Amino acid sequence: MGTKCLALACSPRRDGNTALLAGQALEACRRAGGQTEFLFLADYRCAPCRACEGCYATGRCVVDDDAGFLFDRILAADRLILAAPVFSMGICAQAKMFIDRAQQFWAARYLLGKSVVPDRERRPARRGVFISCAGTTLPGVFDGALQVARYFFKMLEIDLFATLCYAGVDKRGDILKNAAALEEADRVGLILGGS
Ligand SMILES: Cc1cc2nc3c(=O)[nH]c(=O)nc-3n(C[C@H](O)[C@H](O)[C@H](O)COP(=O)(O)O)c2cc1C
Repeated sequence: MGTKCLALACSPRRDGNTALLAGQALEACRRAGGQTEFLFLADYRCAPCRACEGCYATGRCVVDDDAGFLFDRILAADRLILAAPVFSMGICAQAKMFIDRAQQFWAARYLLGKSVVPDRERRPARRGVFISCAGTTLPGVFDGALQVARYFFKMLEIDLFATLCYAGVDKRGDILKNAAALEEADRVGLILGGS
């Protein structure tokens, strides 16, 4: 059985630029022998964090929607490709909402002193990639998104192996004109998917 590689595409555009890049990287993971799964966040019900502190006692969110399923898929994966565009100079709201729900892992780690991954042997092997696109080329356009993404991977105890951020990519499918970006996603996917 190959390395379990999961891509979570967070843009509301199903065939958007970040989803295309995630698909490219995931396909390369498959060619490298990985077992792949592509999830589109908009297909799932995911409410915002209520700040109810319900997870503080158990490390598990009390809100009953699909976030729990998505977190279980992430925990089962050896590799995580998180793809989210820049909206309003930060990570898109859909991704941010989901990441806020990961507060349960913060509670598990920092309040309850538990590891996110109970299986000690799997901990060092987990690696991730963050993919983003922005329509403009403004200086620092990815700063906000990167800060949130780094926090997310750290909370999940996943080593953030690469960040692939492409500026000046705006219209749906524009990334397909950027051969270097597609090649980079492919190259990173090949490394990720190998054991
Ligand atoms: C609501 C919204 C806000 C956006 N805000 C920004 C922004 O602040 N800076 C920027 O460079 N691009 C911004 N964009 C452009 C997107 O980053 C760009 O279209 C990107 O390619 C979208 O990726 P996707 O196709 O994966 O959704 C915004 C787009 C939308 C829909």
